[in-house]
Amino acid sequence: MRIIAVVNQKGGCGKTTTAVNLGDCLALHHRRVLLVDLDPQSNATQAMGIQDKDSQKTMYDVFCDRASLKDIIVPQYENYSIAASSIMVSAVEQQLAGQEGRETYLASALESVRDEFDYVIIDCPPSIGLLTFNALRCAQEAIIPIEMSSFSIQGLGRLLATLELMKEKCNHDIQFRALATIFDRRTKFSWELFDEIKRHFGDQVYNTKMHVCVRLKEAAREGRPICRFDTSSVGFFDYDQLSKEVLAQEGRVAEKAAASDEQVSLGPIKTKRGVRFTLLAPEAETVRLVGDFNEWNSDQIELKKDKKTGAWTKTILLPEGKYQYRYIIDGQWIHDPNNARTEYCPFGGLNSVLEL
Ligand SMILES: Nc1ncnc2c1ncn2[C@@H]1O[C@H](COP(=O)(O)OP(=O)(O)OP(=O)(O)O)[C@@H](O)[C@H]1O
Ligand SMILES: [Mg+2]
Repeated sequence: MRIIAVVNQKGGCGKTTTAVNLGDCLALHHRRVLLVDLDPQSNATQAMGIQDKDSQKTMYDVFCDRASLKDIIVPQYENYSIAASSIMVSAVEQQLAGQEGRETYLASALESVRDEFDYVIIDCPPSIGLLTFNALRCAQEAIIPIEMSSFSIQGLGRLLATLELMKEKCNHDIQFRALATIFDRRTKFSWELFDEIKRHFGDQVYNTKMHVCVRLKEAAREGRPICRFDTSSVGFFDYDQLSKEVLAQEGRVAEKAAASDEQVSLGPIKTKRGVRFTLLAPEAETVRLVGDFNEWNSDQIELKKDKKTGAWTKTILLPEGKYQYRYIIDGQWIHDPNNARTEYCPFGGLNSVLEL
């Protein structure tokens, strides 16, 4: 599953237009696509034809553990589903304040739909807060739309610094690429800015430019992606071209994913061989895994230590379902510090929750 965040803290640079229409073009190319709307403005939700008044469950319910991601996904078109947002999502930051692992909520939720989608496209809000952090923690790639008509380069430094920080602190590398949007080929300014972006990002710029196209605006107002609205428009042509560029990278991304499968990636991760549990505990002598999947038997599952990284791992086969688990580090029971989903244990403390 390829997870792409569409991110830029600058407002109005074409994030939502890109997320909605790139997602739809990928679906037309027979990929199973999930669009995740993380913006409380819910523009992507509306552009997919879902109104707030439809009052379905949204990403707010997922972040607050009131629903699983599977419960809120709406299959809107063939191969194209959405996890909707609502104004309530603006309360997530406050609700999760101080909660351990709150940046990995989305990553845990997406694990449960790993086999159901080929692509997850995340529409981020115009800010670098908890919601954007959640998107960046689970994405392998980021598209940074840059509007070719204003002071759009300002603030990019902060975004790139955030991506760098993520790489250092979380051992999580994101491939990012800039995308020129709202490009007016008639103005010298657009061309100059495009050259500047190229100087800035080198070859990490998409070749396709998103030209100014009023039909994109009209399609969003109608609540339809451009492919369902006007396939003769330049907007459709551009987003289809972009989707082909994205599809052309599939081989390389798969290779990278396979390589990073060997790297340390903390928490429970679904892999081809089963669910891999990884915990960083360089000082520990023994680490064991217990859960309702083995009747909380503390002698059964021992993790293996990688002396170089200090990470303990174990891959086990688990059928689909919801599980509670904990680690036992040198005899002490703890919940998984790399998994934000927890439930209170009747005997005290917290159990970590995994949904497959
Ligand atoms: N290529 C384009 N041609 C013309 N208008 C466009 C184009 N791309 C986006 N727009 C319009 O520009 C406005 C901002 O676009 P969009 O909502 O995608 O930006 P955004 O980055 O998601 O904004 P926000 O930061 O508020 O979430 C919208 O009205 C959209 O219809
Ligand atoms: Mg938007």
